[in-house]
Amino acid sequence: MLVYLNGEFLPSEEAKISVDDRAFLFGDGVYEVTRVVHGQFFGEEGHWLRLQNGLEMTAIGTESVDRYELQDIYRRLIRENGLEEGHATVYLQVTRGCAPRTHQYPDPPCAPTVYAFAKRFAIPDELRANGVAAITRPDLRWMRCDIKTVNLLPNVMAKQAAVEAGAWEAVLVRNGVITEGSATNVFGVIDGEIRTHPKSNFILPGITRDIVIDLAHELGLPVRETPIFLDQVPQLDEMFFTGTTTDVQAIVELDGRKIGDGKVGPVARKLLEALTEKMHSLRSAAV
Ligand code: PDD
Repeated sequence: MLVYLNGEFLPSEEAKISVDDRAFLFGDGVYEVTRVVHGQFFGEEGHWLRLQNGLEMTAIGTESVDRYELQDIYRRLIRENGLEEGHATVYLQVTRGCAPRTHQYPDPPCAPTVYAFAKRFAIPDELRANGVAAITRPDLRWMRCDIKTVNLLPNVMAKQAAVEAGAWEAVLVRNGVITEGSATNVFGVIDGEIRTHPKSNFILPGITRDIVIDLAHELGLPVRETPIFLDQVPQLDEMFFTGTTTDVQAIVELDGRKIGDGKVGPVARKLLEALTEKMHSLRSAAV
């Protein structure tokens, strides 16, 4: 696999970073995962703006990456790794760079580390057809979950707990409120209304979340950005995850209890259809 590291394209085995990289030492970096459909980026502007926000919030610096250079890097990774047809993802990580270990930012600032790779992407049909089981886990994360930092230990631990429990994903709960998943946003349907946690410092503002909310409006489905409390789960007719590597994924069981009738519901199905259609319209728009 050909990857990009600090201005060079090289085989992944040859891409090396220093032990002084601050992402290695402190998790001092941000990242983005963007979906690619038939060689076209999906939700590119949203990913770019969120990246800019993360680079600004962490003071790594918005000048670390140029939007059009980045698109060229992604395009070359897609092309040279044979990913122009079908579905793929591109991963980008920008760290504060390499400097002797001190907690404070290096002064003078060091050059950021910029790493990107592309890979093939597929979601098994079976997950789409049957939905998935999830478990709840306490949301152990910090108070700036809106920044897409590479500090993912609480997310990793929650996902591992889900896998060990035979579930697909963890639903994180803070003070009795469902925030999001370990790498997904969470939606519920209650009395015909779609609900999801409002944007705040407690969730990552998912790009797929925004797109799905827009699609729901277009389909005339009522949506409210309001928290879902854990004790409201028995009232939910449907529940689903959204994300770049998830699309719209129905949750049919939470902590061993059925959601609604325990089958993929009509709202999740309609939204997945609309999202898939939107992704595939990229190709026709590009021609
Ligand atoms: N994760 N919430 C969290 C904590 C996430 O890590 C992600 C994405 C999402 C969904 O956001 P989006 O729709 O922009 O992908 C929500 C990526 C895919 C990852 O960590 O690999």
